[in-house]
Amino acid sequence: MNTANKTVLITGGGSGIGFEIAKLFSRNGSRVIITGRSEARLKDAAAKLQNTGYFVADVTKAEDTDKLVNHINTSYPTLDVLINNAGSASAYNLGENAGIFEKASEEILTNYLAVARLTEKLLPLLNKQVEAAVVNVTSIVALAPAFTIPTYSASKAALRSFTQILRFTLDKQGSSVKVFELMPPLVNTDFSKEIGGENGIAPEVVAQDLLNAFESNTYEVHVGQTADFYKGFYAGTEQAVAALNQGRG
Ligand SMILES: NC(=O)c1ccc[n+]([C@@H]2O[C@H](COP(=O)([O-])OP(=O)(O)OC[C@H]3O[C@@H](n4cnc5c(N)ncnc54)[C@H](OP(=O)(O)O)[C@@H]3O)[C@@H](O)[C@H]2O)c1
Repeated sequence: MNTANKTVLITGGGSGIGFEIAKLFSRNGSRVIITGRSEARLKDAAAKLQNTGYFVADVTKAEDTDKLVNHINTSYPTLDVLINNAGSASAYNLGENAGIFEKASEEILTNYLAVARLTEKLLPLLNKQVEAAVVNVTSIVALAPAFTIPTYSASKAALRSFTQILRFTLDKQGSSVKVFELMPPLVNTDFSKEIGGENGIAPEVVAQDLLNAFESNTYEVHVGQTADFYKGFYAGTEQAVAALNQGRG
């Protein structure tokens, strides 16, 4: 799929991986809309990019989602690419009495349910384009859960499952919408500070891998260590969990 001259919506595009993806698309002559909860962050990010607008919207709120969908239908009716990138994570260990229900609820709402809702609401518009895409940002931990982010891992596994069945269903329906899953390993962003993110790869690498995957129609994007992990360990879940968590827990 061609990456030039697209209209691209990126949730959580004001920082980290989403911002780097926005940078690459906007450089390619695409029109980009970034969203998030902090207007100051979005304004600052959009000012650094070409052809980029922003819209303040919390993906967990139904009302914000409806306003965003209206804005896109009205001002960006040529939307070709939806990138579900906004994410939420809590770092803790199970058994610490850390308030698992509240933490898991926030993660599952942001990382899975909100993605399903926004995707459903924008699919009619995406389906009108000759060539369109949905990108869901999951994680290496969608393949095997990490001790330090247990319920976040579960939420990304839910999103991976949803992404796979969405791809299969749209394909069967003969839809023009292709479904990509971007699966980063540890990335050095604000998001991963609590879990040693400074040892992670740069968000620029993740963004470039996604653009390359678009060009080569590679729908599962195994970034960096995720590729080795997928090949070497995914043969057995127990092996995979042990490998990912070596020395932890
Ligand atoms: N960093 C890693 O190691 C890593 C690894 C694998 C996968 N990922 C995934 O990559 C994605 C991007 O993360 P990142 O590392 O780039 O982190 P980041 O720099 O913290 O970016 C996350 C963005 O999401 C926005 N956001 C958070 N909650 C939101 C909500 N409820 N509604 C709308 N926007 C929201 C944030 O903006 P506001 O706070 O202004 O809303 C922020 O701009 C996430 O889905 C994450 O799970 C990250």
